[in-house]
Amino acid sequence: MQKKITIAIDGYAGCGKSTLAKALAKALDYTFIDSGAMYRAVAFYCLENNLVLEQDEIAEATLIQQLDQISIQLGSDQRVWLNNQDITEVIRSPRVAGIVSKVAAIKAVRVKLVELQRQMSAAGGIVMDGRDIGTVVFPDAELKIFVTASIEVRTQRRLEELRAKGEVVDQLAVEENLKSRDHQDSTRAESPLKQAADAVVLDTSALSREEQLSWALARVALLVTD
Ligand code: CDP
Repeated sequence: MQKKITIAIDGYAGCGKSTLAKALAKALDYTFIDSGAMYRAVAFYCLENNLVLEQDEIAEATLIQQLDQISIQLGSDQRVWLNNQDITEVIRSPRVAGIVSKVAAIKAVRVKLVELQRQMSAAGGIVMDGRDIGTVVFPDAELKIFVTASIEVRTQRRLEELRAKGEVVDQLAVEENLKSRDHQDSTRAESPLKQAADAVVLDTSALSREEQLSWALARVALLVTD
């Protein structure tokens, strides 16, 4: 039997990390974990519980007090549950995208979610995507991929994704959100987004989904065959 490795995929907003991670997990029969969905779930909790104040400030102290009441589950079908409520679709909304990076900058939120991410991965054979997977969550992951793409391509892909779901979207607003999250995610004090020293870079700007998958599978093959 081939050995099962841990694959960490990090990168900027909307560069195709989750799409690649999902395809890779399917091809390898691994478990895919979308860590971003977990941060989005906490952001959604804040919106639902009046923890988003004026100018989108987060009521941090209250959120920290309530963290124990937040239960997040990711189904094998990729559905996302918050305290037994299915929030799969709503966490992709522009409103959630608008505040998630502020929520993700809170240390106590990260401590809780990183612990959960490690628990969920205990069985091995994991593909997890996010911002700090190769640097903080799994610093010993056998394969670390840092995904990039031009802002034009990322905006276009995110627009198509949202339009396919029937959202009315404004191109400039989507682009601004991606840029603003990249800035917040890269400059925060806690586990900022950065390329791990031992990560390989994959620029998806000019690659089809199939080409990205083939590239990643070739990388995996180098590690699992002895
Ligand atoms: O899919 P997209 O690139 O839009 O983002 P996502 O993976 O759903 O992540 C949403 C937000 O969660 C990011 O902009 C980060 O602020 C935060 N995040 C994080 O801080 N750490 C992670 N491991 C994953 C997401």
